[in-house]
Amino acid sequence: MFSMKTLSGTDKQIAELIAQEQKRQVGTIDLIASENYPSRAVREAMGSIFGAKYSEGRPFRRYYAGMEFVDTLETLVENRVRKAFGIDETWAVNVQPYSGSPANYAVERGLLQPGDKILSMDLSHGGHLTHGSPVSLSGIDFKIAHYMVDKTTYRLNYEEIAKLARKEKPRMIITGYSAYPRVIDFEQFASIAKEVGAYLMADIAHIAGLIVGKAHPSPFPHADVVTTTTHKTLRGPRGAVIICREELRKQIFMKVFPGLQGGPHNETIAALGVALKEAMSPAFGRYARQIVKNAQALAKALQNYGFEVLSGGTDNHLLLIDVSKRGIAGKEAQELLEAAGIVLNRNAIPFDERPVFNPSGLRMGTPAVTTRGMKEKEMKQIANWIDLVLGEPARAAQVKKEVATFCRKFPLP
Ligand SMILES: Cc1ncc(COP(=O)(O)O)c(C=O)c1O
Repeated sequence: MFSMKTLSGTDKQIAELIAQEQKRQVGTIDLIASENYPSRAVREAMGSIFGAKYSEGRPFRRYYAGMEFVDTLETLVENRVRKAFGIDETWAVNVQPYSGSPANYAVERGLLQPGDKILSMDLSHGGHLTHGSPVSLSGIDFKIAHYMVDKTTYRLNYEEIAKLARKEKPRMIITGYSAYPRVIDFEQFASIAKEVGAYLMADIAHIAGLIVGKAHPSPFPHADVVTTTTHKTLRGPRGAVIICREELRKQIFMKVFPGLQGGPHNETIAALGVALKEAMSPAFGRYARQIVKNAQALAKALQNYGFEVLSGGTDNHLLLIDVSKRGIAGKEAQELLEAAGIVLNRNAIPFDERPVFNPSGLRMGTPAVTTRGMKEKEMKQIANWIDLVLGEPARAAQVKKEVATFCRKFPLP
């Protein structure tokens, strides 16, 4: 448990809420594909005194005094990003974005003019809000055309995407998703983008840790710009990174600061540095591969219980199942499983006929349970509980007790 000695003495209310949240996390199984538990070392850096420092500007070109250690820190972390992704100085790195959404918007506004066209994956097929959803500024500022997954395989169909790109002539193509369980062929995307004269942006928020751990192919050198969050499979603090070809640096980085942001969160940058050092270790490579093995084991076990796993399985950290075939809606399934201590989210599935608020699918991911040390055997157990609870909802309370006992064997970092 993280010590809260000082906090408990000064603010019992907040200390109590943190303690309750910690208890919830310890006693439940987290299958939310975008979540993970950073190490203690990462959390220590997150709570460090770097948070007290303002540092608007770029390293060694600041608007504030007192920069000697912040400049060294930010430069070190930028270089660790290059090392982790195996790229050189021809790639410009910015570790200042507060999170994935502003990072994506900075890139879009940096490379495009309002009214320009983006070609991206439809939200209900696995894309992200910031890839041009009508409720996101990205969908308000730009014209959007969407590609979808194939109706029979539920996979990307590169020929169809190429056809659409020729027809739509976008200025930017976005790849990288929130709910796509298969390998992305960045090289094919790059060749499509090149043919139509579009920038290729790869948003690797979900799979960054798999890429660094060599459990998924890299978007380098194929994409023109890569964005990522740092808190999902990469297991760092909440934040984001933009990496672009050196020649695009100015127009993109100006949109981060002063375009969208003020002072960088230096404590987050410090914690990202720690996470990157961890991610470059052999143990992290094993972790990344285990995430995938666990997702595949979970998919297989669920299939054995008769669940439909979309696209037939997974190559990465997540999977989608269609629960509507079992006569249950996504929202109800999510709530029942939460009552049993299994935390995941309902999700639209491609070509979903149900409303977004109560769709047909569930999304499950294995980064967090793998951090706790769970393996294939535990995935089978989890699938068994999912089947029990969705088949017989009255069992939720009993399963919740079993889950709490089971979780004791797998402590949080
Ligand atoms: C693919 C993708 N990009 C961007 C984001 C946005 O990140 P944030 O929630 O940090 O703004 C997410 C978040 O889940 C995501 O899945």
